[in-house]
Amino acid sequence: MAEQSAEFVVVANRLPVDLEKLPDGTQRWKRSPGGLVTALEPMLRSREGAWVGWPGLADAEAEPFVEDGLALHPVMLTARDVEDYYEGFSNGTLWPLYHDVVAPPAFHRHWWQAYVRVNKRFAEVVAEVAAPNATVWIQDYQLQLLPAELRALRPDLRIGFFLHIPFPPTELYQQLPWRKEIVEGLLGADLVGFHTPGGVRNFRWLATRFTDARPGARNEVSYDGRTVKLGAFPISIDSAQLDELSRTPEVQQRAKEIRNDLGNPERVILGVDRLDYTKGIDVRLRAFEELLQEDRAGDTVMIQLATPSRERVEHYQTMRAGIEQSVGRINGTFARVGHPVLHYLHQSLPRDELAAFFVAADVMLVTPLRDGMNLVAKEYVACRSDLGGVLVLSEFAGAAIELKESVLVNPHDTDGVKNALHRALTMPADESRKRMRSLRRQVLAYDVDRWARSFLDALGLPS
Ligand code: ADP
Ligand code: F6P
Repeated sequence: MAEQSAEFVVVANRLPVDLEKLPDGTQRWKRSPGGLVTALEPMLRSREGAWVGWPGLADAEAEPFVEDGLALHPVMLTARDVEDYYEGFSNGTLWPLYHDVVAPPAFHRHWWQAYVRVNKRFAEVVAEVAAPNATVWIQDYQLQLLPAELRALRPDLRIGFFLHIPFPPTELYQQLPWRKEIVEGLLGADLVGFHTPGGVRNFRWLATRFTDARPGARNEVSYDGRTVKLGAFPISIDSAQLDELSRTPEVQQRAKEIRNDLGNPERVILGVDRLDYTKGIDVRLRAFEELLQEDRAGDTVMIQLATPSRERVEHYQTMRAGIEQSVGRINGTFARVGHPVLHYLHQSLPRDELAAFFVAADVMLVTPLRDGMNLVAKEYVACRSDLGGVLVLSEFAGAAIELKESVLVNPHDTDGVKNALHRALTMPADESRKRMRSLRRQVLAYDVDRWARSFLDALGLPS
């Protein structure tokens, strides 16, 4: 692949595909987990860009390659980098801190040093890949130092940064020993994007408090002789594509089979998440268990699909053990032979299978304690062309700002979640159809392409 030839480069911690080692020693690529890939992959494929990222395995030496017209440039991380930069600083410090400290963040200097080192390595790879005056779009909290590192190497580039997770309240952010360095890193971009206006406000205040940045016009700061734009860009999904997939006879048929396999209960509740402690899976299990105890659940079966995630990080191990214990307890108490009340799959499913689960579910429970956006909520809506189903959604998900016709809940209030779940299970069809119609209008109109175009327009990239 020619050096410095890509006109449009996306940089993320992960490539859209992960390298997987099979027991027989061979390797294969499989789709990476999480919402970032869901959102960006269709957008980038249509623009024939390049993607720089980690292949998901420690010490994996992979050459750049082209997949479906997309040029993929792997960045190598050693086992030490994975431990200190990815599991450590990214997911043991920043992830809990930015999610309202729902778990305590750990501050370790050697994690920070690894974060600096790996961000510099990403900068070197991008500097080799990007054509003169190219546009580079950096993604997410793992790479917050990259905008400034890259600008130092390649001042000719147009640099955008988008944060896929919440930007925390200023009081929480200030706990970070390296708060100044991270804000300065982000200020290396020409445009810094967040999901919500609250993120923009918090960042703007911190930039003027901890760095030499000065307030400029609305949603701008001036820094180092440049103007840095800030903006809110709520991310979305490829709604039309998912809508189409969910209408196919295969998906519709599979949805019927799923209900049949469950024993054709009157109601099916669904949860779909990465297995992450921010997602509030424990909250919804508790609400369901209490409804069963109070004999208010009716003839209902719940399914929880959970993609394995960050399995070596301690908080994740503790949470997984707690959830699996709850699943055992709930079924132990309420199941009959051959009829579990709760099905738990610790697996990642293919897109068409996932669409069939969305079609099959009467109630979608999305109860994060904190979430940047939550694409699952939008995916459920996109799959309900029949106007069936009720979405129960946490007020603490970014999606709650747009999906106002969902049944909104405070995930810290168990009674509130329980009553919302009961309301969703018993909602009259005319009300649920009205709500779903309005949700679909929103999700189908504001899709991922619109999100990407609005960010890139603000960055000044001609579409
Ligand atoms: P996050 O980015 O924190 O993982 P999102 O809800 O924004 O959360 O995105 C999660 C993405 O991962 C969605 O596209 C969702 O469909 C997908 N996903 C979650 N759980 C599963 C699963 N068990 N199998 C397949 N895909 C899943
Ligand atoms: O924005 C959420 C996010 O952290 C993405 O950056 C990432 O692609 C996804 O979740 C999955 O997480 P991980 O790459 O740590 O498995």
